[in-house]
Amino acid sequence: MTEIRPIVTELLGQLGSSREARQYLEQFSRVSETRFAVIKVGGGVLADELNELAAALAFLHRLGLHPIVLHGAGPQLDQALDDAGVVTEKKDGLRVTTEQVMAVARPVIYRANARLVDALERMGVRARGLQHGVFECGFEDREQLGLVGRIEAVELESIQAAVASGQMPVVACLGETRSGQVLNINADVATRELVWKLEPFKVIFLTPTGGLLDAHQQIISAISLNQDYDDLMDQPWVHSGMQLKLKQIHAMLEPLAPSASVSITSSSQLTRELFTHTGAGTLIRKGERIDWFDQPGAEQWQRLEPLLEASFGRRLHPDWLDDREIEGLLLAESGRAAALIVRGRGDIAYLDKIVVTPEARGEGLGAALWQSLRQRFPSMYWRARIGNPIAGWYFQQARTSHRDEPWVVFTTGVEDDALVSQLVSDASARDSGWTENPGFEHGPQIDTDRFKGE
Ligand code: ARG
Repeated sequence: MTEIRPIVTELLGQLGSSREARQYLEQFSRVSETRFAVIKVGGGVLADELNELAAALAFLHRLGLHPIVLHGAGPQLDQALDDAGVVTEKKDGLRVTTEQVMAVARPVIYRANARLVDALERMGVRARGLQHGVFECGFEDREQLGLVGRIEAVELESIQAAVASGQMPVVACLGETRSGQVLNINADVATRELVWKLEPFKVIFLTPTGGLLDAHQQIISAISLNQDYDDLMDQPWVHSGMQLKLKQIHAMLEPLAPSASVSITSSSQLTRELFTHTGAGTLIRKGERIDWFDQPGAEQWQRLEPLLEASFGRRLHPDWLDDREIEGLLLAESGRAAALIVRGRGDIAYLDKIVVTPEARGEGLGAALWQSLRQRFPSMYWRARIGNPIAGWYFQQARTSHRDEPWVVFTTGVEDDALVSQLVSDASARDSGWTENPGFEHGPQIDTDRFKGE
């Protein structure tokens, strides 16, 4: 394992920057070994993308990470019931499980489990199928639902034993009563209960779509529940299935540490999701508030100034605020991210300073900050020093970019070209607020270093 790490790290580097990849690998390795991630694999993924799935999981295994894999078998079961001519119904999203349904379901679930275990073994990963012994259940509602389990206890012993002996645990969504009656459990419920017991750093849902989709069928990159949940639930395009998913994830994250997160992604994008800042899929966190102060007071300045100085490694001159017409300050609750906006030319907002601490970046706080900035200021401009690693990312965010040595000036939401050129000269001439050169205006401190050298 140890010799392979540098090679793999280098490989990861090809995804973006190896620095990013290494940062995440360290982060994921820091938690105790069974608490890296619970990965819930939908039945559809098992059926249609088995090899990609096994390859993605094998990759994590080779990195020395130990995800706990949990899978459903919904589509396989529908098919089998259909083939057997057994009609079933669902009540409140739970499949009514008669003895007849269970007779069909059990072998289908075992087979799904064995297929994944076999696929992993073929990739050289030792895997252990856990088809019982994890979820101790009572009956959910024997009258109405039949053999459906209500999880009463989650036993981690077999999972931990598998990991301790170098095997990847592959858990099926079956439970049993104390006396050994096998019960069917809904995969989302099983995931939630396992997550609550294990308190992993990451919860990953692998789905065929690879994320939650917005109104234009594009994957939503990040959701911060504190900021976005109510809004999202109100959107007409958020259909009931997605509402349910969001509600479940909201409840699931509730008792976990603020650093925990859920990623919804696909097998083929899993590595990118895990080992880059921008990810590939939907990252959901509880998130923290980002407050807006249109008249920041002493308290806010006292939080902002040390944050800026520490991150940029420079000193602000004592009267740096004197000739700035403050529009307002966005400041994250934890004080780890901030954006200072001043009144610019033609009443367009000028983004004077933006800062996100390195560890908050990976949590998506940079993206959340940027999002609230963009919501508040559809039109704005800002500058970065040419060669600043962040510039590459800015190029993607901006509508226009102009070089004006030593600066690149970016604008967004400004359609008038004459105004744009005024903004460019205005931005280039502004006071940076720092006492001595050199250094970067928007430091190496936001989001990405993948563009280094461009
Ligand atoms: N790699 C980080 C993680 O797994 C960040 C992922 C960001 N993903 C996203 N879809 N925005 O936690």
